[in-house]
Amino acid sequence: MSQAYMESYAASRADANGFWLKAAEAIVWQVKPQAGWRDGEGWFADGVMNTCHNAVDRHVEAGRGDDIALIYESPVTDTRTTFTFAQLRDHVARTAGMIAAQGVGKGDRVIIYMPMIPQALFAMLACARIGAIHSVVFGGFAAPELAKRIDDATPQLLLTTSCGIEGGKVIPYKPLVDHALQLAQHKVSGVILLQRPQATAPMQDGRDIDWAGALAQAEPADCVPVKATDPLYILYTSGTTGMPKGVVRQNGGHAVVLAWSMANIYGIQPGEVFWAASDVGWVVGHSYIAYGPLIAGATTLLFEGKPVGTPDAGTFWRTIARNDVRIFFTAPTAIRAVRKEDPDGRFIADIGTGNLRAMFLAGERADPDTIHWAEEHLKLPVIDHWWQTELGWPALATCLGLGDTRRKAGSAGFPVPGFAFRIVDDGGEDVPAGETGKVVMTMPLAPGCYAGLWNNEAGYAKAFATFPGHYETGDAGHIDADGFVNIMGRTDDIINVAGHRLSTGQMEQIVASHPAIAECAVIGVDDALKGMIPMAFAVAKVGQWDNAALEREIVKMVRDELGPVAALKEVHVVGALPKTRSGKILRAALRKVAAGEKIAMPPTIESPAALEAIMALFDQAPA
Ligand code: COA
Ligand code: AMP
Repeated sequence: MSQAYMESYAASRADANGFWLKAAEAIVWQVKPQAGWRDGEGWFADGVMNTCHNAVDRHVEAGRGDDIALIYESPVTDTRTTFTFAQLRDHVARTAGMIAAQGVGKGDRVIIYMPMIPQALFAMLACARIGAIHSVVFGGFAAPELAKRIDDATPQLLLTTSCGIEGGKVIPYKPLVDHALQLAQHKVSGVILLQRPQATAPMQDGRDIDWAGALAQAEPADCVPVKATDPLYILYTSGTTGMPKGVVRQNGGHAVVLAWSMANIYGIQPGEVFWAASDVGWVVGHSYIAYGPLIAGATTLLFEGKPVGTPDAGTFWRTIARNDVRIFFTAPTAIRAVRKEDPDGRFIADIGTGNLRAMFLAGERADPDTIHWAEEHLKLPVIDHWWQTELGWPALATCLGLGDTRRKAGSAGFPVPGFAFRIVDDGGEDVPAGETGKVVMTMPLAPGCYAGLWNNEAGYAKAFATFPGHYETGDAGHIDADGFVNIMGRTDDIINVAGHRLSTGQMEQIVASHPAIAECAVIGVDDALKGMIPMAFAVAKVGQWDNAALEREIVKMVRDELGPVAALKEVHVVGALPKTRSGKILRAALRKVAAGEKIAMPPTIESPAALEAIMALFDQAPA
């Protein structure tokens, strides 16, 4: 354990307010906060600042206008472009002017439904600049999901593009946006659309505005001071119901912890290149593509491509070497995809990794096998770290920037300064060391963590209600004898599919809405590439059905309702679902059977025949 980590952690526990007020000095404030945490008010409640100013303008003002702020690498369009801080400031200020010209101001919401292109980043920063609240929606979600977010966030404006490019496929966005706007009750007053040459979109008179034209006429807008506790963004994430949770992130705490984490977790210095290969639609993209590196005065890399196929499994290493990336962050599933194509690590050996110092992984548990493979070939530390959309930044990690290098494959590391963990049973009592229980965190959480759920006070309160004085993470895990925290999976019906957080409960609602389906269960099944994939078991209503046709219809329904990212490709129409005598579906048994595990008949089962029939589908018989 490094001395710096130990001291930093101890200081954050002994005097959290002092610790974070000191960290807050890394940020430019219009009004410097005197308050750390205040119950009922949050972090830095008396501070006034602007996130965009901290990410962009202040570096120009400090004489770094000619330094590279953003590198856009797009193997799918064969493009590489760089933007200096001064260029970024100009693009963002004009984009902010374009948005403001539509009547959008402080506190108004703007939905951004865009792929991994610089304009997506400009749009986020532009909203921050004028105090508007952005809500970025991931491109892999279908129209009904976009509509739900439109109705919940009630945006004034929607920003989009004509298309996204997913590997080799051009995906038109406009039909999807038009459909979502039809489905939504809330009427958006304007849609600004960026035409991309790969697929241009028809415009609707009176509603749709051409991005290029509007931008050409826009006056640059200045940064508007906002309270530290004013929302910067709403990011929807899967909860346990069909309605996504709108995580609200405040400006001040977010900027402070991002600056702190860039230096102390990732060990990045101003001027260095940091690359998070995620998507702006996810929290990793918000924190460590759009905001974190820029706030820290580092260069951020925006990558429009996939780990494989764009053009090959060497694309990560090529991008790292070419751009002098010092720290790289991706999801374990991406490394598994690379490994599948390049099991002997030939691309790594041929291309090298330049000056890369470490690779961080998050989004799902990093299986030891993947870590070992990556460390063997990269010959660099591969660091698993843990966080959630709700938290906004890592709460478990190896703090490289504090000189810590301890790591153990399978563990997500140690509590980051500012966070304290307990592993408890259902009654809130600590479980014995080494035993798995519910992972909870003591209050108050460090700055940067969510300050509410948009339009859902009860949902927010729920996370703090079961274990008073604690935040319930929804994860299960244990702490080993050396203090490493191991996060093993969820305690609810959320699953992680290829690093994407999805709700099986939501998929069940969609499957159950099929007119021929009486009941169903959707479970997460271990998958060698994606970590987990969803699988549905559905019981048809009484009648004559073509089961194969039903299965195809259900797959299509989930894709149309939730989106291709749901990756539900396997549906089994069965005679009955295995249940306990009290009527609960035996999901754990289904998970094991689907994963090919041999199981004995559960003693609580009401209907052994139902489980036997499902076992037979997987060529199994009761053990
Ligand atoms: N817009 C539109 N469609 C999208 C999309 C987007 N932004 N992202 C994914 N999709 C589609 C894909 O095209 C695919 O469609 P298909 O069923 O027609 O093939 C489907 O959603 C599933 O996509 P995905 O889960 O990404 O699977 P994949 O097989 O295309 O790729 C990986 C597998 C592992 C390469 C890829 O999932 C990956 O890079 N994952 C890392 C994710 C990540 O970084 N997460 C952030 C956490 S840090
Ligand atoms: P998201 O909100 O999309 O970031 O997903 C958060 C969830 O992903 C967590 O609650 C965990 O279940 C899982 N997760 C993220 N990172 C890790 C990790 N390093 N190890 C284990 N699980 C992780």
